[in-house]
Amino acid sequence: MMQVYVRDSQAEANDLAAHLVVEAVRSGARVLGLATGQTMIGVYAALVAQVRADRIATERWTTFNLDEYVGIGPDHPGSFHHFMTTHLFRPLGLGPQQSHLLNGLAPDLEAECNRFERLVMASPPDVQILGIGQNGHIGFNEPGTPWDSGTHRVTLTAATIAQNAPDFPGSMPREALTMGIGTILMARAIIVVATGAAKAPAVYRAVREEPSLEVPASALRLHPDVRYVLDTAAAERLFSDPRWDRAASVVEID
Ligand code: GLP
Repeated sequence: MMQVYVRDSQAEANDLAAHLVVEAVRSGARVLGLATGQTMIGVYAALVAQVRADRIATERWTTFNLDEYVGIGPDHPGSFHHFMTTHLFRPLGLGPQQSHLLNGLAPDLEAECNRFERLVMASPPDVQILGIGQNGHIGFNEPGTPWDSGTHRVTLTAATIAQNAPDFPGSMPREALTMGIGTILMARAIIVVATGAAKAPAVYRAVREEPSLEVPASALRLHPDVRYVLDTAAAERLFSDPRWDRAASVVEID
């Protein structure tokens, strides 16, 4: 089952996403799947604030990140590892033994993907946080990726490079390692956060159109526990659907 939450502003959406993670932790979640991207900056700021305010213990958390660029390491300011250190690990004091990321500098990238896949399969996330690309990608699973895919190496599409390049210090890597769609679907619960008008078409396709390989996020329709957290801009196309109850704070979709 899928639930779609719409909030009036990006800040409120971020707060709700953080709240849902904290609630999951309060109910026993210890393994968190994490995403990167501009959307996550506000989500992690809200999460750090709530964890601190509620004095939530993080010592027993284990985290897995979705993806990493090939050819750069944790110290590179464009790496997802660096992003996580800045926005979540350092503020919450999460140590390297708690936080698992793919190593984009591994000498054997296929072996690195297999190592990571085994690690995730041994204790899949209780909650996986996801963003969504404008082309509907999740992690770096681009359109056409099989839904049973495990962790693998990808060549980024021109669209994704164009989308991420403005945030990347220096020249953008052309390849990445990513959890597969099959890996992502192993999480017990999934929270997708999308804010801003640029995400409205991808959100509509993922939530309302027939699931298709062309929209990787539509694979989430196979999962029994998915929540979308949106601001009104990202939900705009959903609102244009006459079946949509705009006044509802949460809409359930079978
Ligand atoms: C990147 C990441 C995705 C993320 C997406 C959206 O490509 N690999 O995990 O969901 O971008 O990013 P943003 O939040 O910056 O729009």
